[in-house]
This record gives sequence, structure tokens and C-alpha cells, in this order.
Amino acid sequence: MLEDHSHVLEPLLPPFAACAETRRDLLDIELFPSEAETLGRAVDKRRREFITGRACARLALERLGVAPAAIPGGAGGAPVWPEGVVGSITHCRGFRAAAVARATDALALGIDAEPDAPLPPGVLEEVAHGPELDIVAAGGPGADAGRLLFTAKEAVYKAWFPLTGRWLGFEDARVSLDWPGGTFRAELLVPAPLVAGVDLSTFTGRWSAAGGVICATVAVSAP
Ligand SMILES: CC(C)(COP(=O)(O)OP(=O)(O)OC[C@H]1O[C@@H](n2cnc3c(N)ncnc32)[C@H](O)[C@@H]1OP(=O)(O)O)[C@@H](O)C(=O)NCCC(=O)NCCS
Repeated sequence: MLEDHSHVLEPLLPPFAACAETRRDLLDIELFPSEAETLGRAVDKRRREFITGRACARLALERLGVAPAAIPGGAGGAPVWPEGVVGSITHCRGFRAAAVARATDALALGIDAEPDAPLPPGVLEEVAHGPELDIVAAGGPGADAGRLLFTAKEAVYKAWFPLTGRWLGFEDARVSLDWPGGTFRAELLVPAPLVAGVDLSTFTGRWSAAGGVICATVAVSAP
């Protein structure tokens, strides 16, 4: 039985999106054959996060009014959503979640969750560049600044990739944060296409930190 946990993510998403989140494993769902194929022979940790992510996705789809459907992995590892749906999945230690929207409302969603703790040695240098180093140096209340930048960038990537099929490196976007407001903006430093008339050179998102987890979301609204 899935619990109704939508406390962190829901305020970070537009009203047209539906989501589900959990802080424990949800393993009592049946995987569709294509999902089982995506999972393959995985170690226990991966099996638990994959199945729990799919359980959250099922609940989020139900909240959107969409029947349960297979969500296999596709190109670049991105989840393949049922026709007419876009969405995103995240899992980190102690937190798993999914968010979905109708394709008539959103071109893409990106969500990412990370433990609110300093990045491992060496990772910050890959993630933060230029003015982002000032954000890290200044810090802010309630969240590790480096990890927050990382989380925001991964949320951007999860929205970017399904729309473009292209890699985007951490150095390819400059993130600025509104710390008290819980919003962020990512300006791409590489050429970005127009998708359905929407300019992908800038992404805006929301973030929050609670219960030891930083969560960031990006929603690209349909025109
Ligand atoms: C793909 C990536 C963003 C996943 O993030 P993560 O913190 O490692 O892992 P999370 O648990 O939060 O997310 C994993 C889920 O993301 C989704 N995902 C994986 N690849 C994806 C892609 N290319 N596009 C969209 N979603 C993707 C999947 O649903 C996956 O879960 P699943 O395999 O169980 O279905 C990350 O591994 C990565 O490659 N980052 C480098 C690129 C980047 O972030 N650039 C920043 C540009 S500003």
C-alpha cells in the first residue's frame, strides 16, 4: 500500500503537475516486463530505488488520472512515459519521488533530490564555475550551497535531455539562486534549440531543503 507522501515536492511544482514521494522503500508493486528488462540483474540497492521510483511514478500517474503503464528506461537512461505524459524520477538516500504532467501542460519536468551534505571531494570543482563559486563561498541558511547547485543542475539536465537528446555538462549552465525565495535560474552557455517554440536557453526552477534532503524541480511549460 502506498503512503500519501507529497510534502516536499508538491510545493515545488506547478499546479498542473502530480507527484508522489516517499522516505521508505515501496516494493510491493509488480514491474511491467519492459521495466524488469530495464532493471536487469541489479544489486539490491539499485533494485530498491528503481522499484520505489516506479511505485512513486504509478501513484503520480494515478493522481494525474492516467492508468498504470510501463515506464521503461530509454535513451540516455531517461524514463519513457506513457503517450501524452512527461515526467521525472529521483532517488537518493532516504528519499524517492516522481513527478508527472500532461504533455499539453508541460514540455518537460526535471526533479532531483540529494542528501543535504557537502559534495564528495573533487566534485564541487566540476559542478561550480565562475559566479557560482561566489554562491558557494557565501553559502546560505538551511542547505549546503554546493550540493544545492548540483541538485539544481541535475534537475535542469533531466528536463533538458528528453527535449534535446543532448548531453549538457555542469560547466554548460550558470545557475543563480534566490536563496530566501527558493527559486533558481539556469542560463545555458551552449546553443540551445527552440522546442515547440520554447527557448531552452534559460530554465527556471524551485528548490527546498527539509529533513536532510535538498530537492530541486524544473518545469518547462507547454506554449
Ligand atoms: C542522469 C543524472 C542527472 C541522474 O541523476 P542522479 O542524481 O545520479 O540520480 P537520481 O536518482 O536523482 O535520478 C535517476 C533517475 O533519473 C532519470 N534519468 C536518468 N537519465 C536521465 C536522462 N538522461 N534524462 C532524464 N532523466 C534521466 C531516471 O529516471 C533515473 O532513475 P531510474 O533509472 O530508476 O529510472 C546524472 O546521473 C547525470 O548523468 N548527471 C550529469 C549531467 C548533468 O547533470 N548535467 C548538468 C547540466 S546543467
